[in-house]
Amino acid sequence: MLPSLSSQLTAELLALRDQHRLRSCQSLAGASRVNVTSDGLRLTAFCSNDYLGLACHPALARAAAEATARSGFGAGASRLVSGTLPEHLALEDALASLVGAEAALLFPTGYQANLGAITALAGPLDLIVADRADHASIIDACRLSRSKLAFYPHLDLARAERHLNHFGPAARRRFLVTESLFSMDGDVAPLPELLALARAHDAALVVDEAHAIGCLGPSGAGLCAHFGVRPDVLVGTLGKAIGASGAFVAGTVGLRTYLSNCARPFLFTTALPPPVAAAALAAVQIITSVDGDLLRRALRERVTQLRFRLVLPPDPFAAPILPMILGPDDHALRASSQLRDKGILVQPIRPPTVREGTARLRITLSAQHTPEQVATLADAVASLSLNPSCPSAIPTLADEPTPRCSSQTTSRASDRAPSSSEQVFRHPGRLPESCPLAAGTARAHFVRRLPGTSGLQTSRLRRSCNRPEPVRRCIGLTGRVCIDLPQ
Ligand SMILES: Cc1ncc(COP(=O)(O)O)c(C=O)c1O
Repeated sequence: MLPSLSSQLTAELLALRDQHRLRSCQSLAGASRVNVTSDGLRLTAFCSNDYLGLACHPALARAAAEATARSGFGAGASRLVSGTLPEHLALEDALASLVGAEAALLFPTGYQANLGAITALAGPLDLIVADRADHASIIDACRLSRSKLAFYPHLDLARAERHLNHFGPAARRRFLVTESLFSMDGDVAPLPELLALARAHDAALVVDEAHAIGCLGPSGAGLCAHFGVRPDVLVGTLGKAIGASGAFVAGTVGLRTYLSNCARPFLFTTALPPPVAAAALAAVQIITSVDGDLLRRALRERVTQLRFRLVLPPDPFAAPILPMILGPDDHALRASSQLRDKGILVQPIRPPTVREGTARLRITLSAQHTPEQVATLADAVASLSLNPSCPSAIPTLADEPTPRCSSQTTSRASDRAPSSSEQVFRHPGRLPESCPLAAGTARAHFVRRLPGTSGLQTSRLRRSCNRPEPVRRCIGLTGRVCIDLPQ
């Protein structure tokens, strides 16, 4: 007899547990995504996507309450049946104007927006070339479209071009798909170069701005606006900096009409509740106001402060996502648990969310964090030890004299390396031989890839790597910053 479904599931869950991959939904309480309570324990969370602290803003709650009184709570039907309400149309107009597009179409979630846009536009005769680090919703959408799918290594445009050259000519349509600010890596796609590549191959550029909208770019318009790039399809979400829930696809009026006719995750689902749309509109109004500028400035200051304290090079984008890549899953689990013991919540991120061997702490900052909370986080990261029996010591810098916006660099930080585009990711195979991992240490990588990094940086790397102490920081040819943790 075959094993029952329940015994098969139990076996699979046990296997997940043994691989340190079992997850559970942790319940958090509190009217803030930063100051939370879990099991009676007060924690400072550094893992939400509420980058501007709008999720619990009174203006959003007020807008939602007013919309509930005006239009009811549930939309009652899909958009094309009877679920389109004034709140949806007002929000779509505001979002289109935020990102400088002709039109926008709402979806109930970002997952559905990617699924809807990509599966409606691309089919079995088409080619999709996508960054390997793209979000799961993009990957799933590409697979579901049944298009020819070619991934390129993260940010490797030469490989993307090779895919376009190789597979492009046979395709009916070609798509180049990327995130703008990568959700798990905190680095930024070279959007102007991607646009040029797309244009050179008659490909459509699809950009997911989920983590950039609201906090990066002029008036929070995102990184496409920052670079002056107009993609063919722009996806944005409402559940991150906008502090609500839902998503949108922006582009031409024709794109909006097409998706509202052909995107199944739009057609066959109940419309966003009108109070959620109204709250998102209130958030967009804050984001585009002077208050939005102040929130973005506060966020940049926190990012600058944390990077300085961790002796990381300045980030010209001041991206609020800082991955600390620890490698094995259990290292990420242990580091997260040690932070929790110090009152800090940072969830371990493990495969399949990230690639095998790159489990990490994904630290996110919010405008709501205080400088004291950021300093506490830096100290806690500094005292991480991957082996509880071995006390750790990652030296951090004393507080930056005046933590200010990202355009200002501290003398210590600017000494590190110039940077026009900074990306944080891991290259386990390319550590220079002069930088062996000392016995009893594990390495956390903060990596930047800089076009045209100089020999000066290489020698700095060699110098710092040859130092005998177990905790090291290195800046390499590729802009690598390593912190070795005692294990
Ligand atoms: C890049 C990216 N796109 C899309 C999504 C999905 O958005 P949502 O949470 O609204 O479904 C996420 C969610 O984390 C994301 O990081």
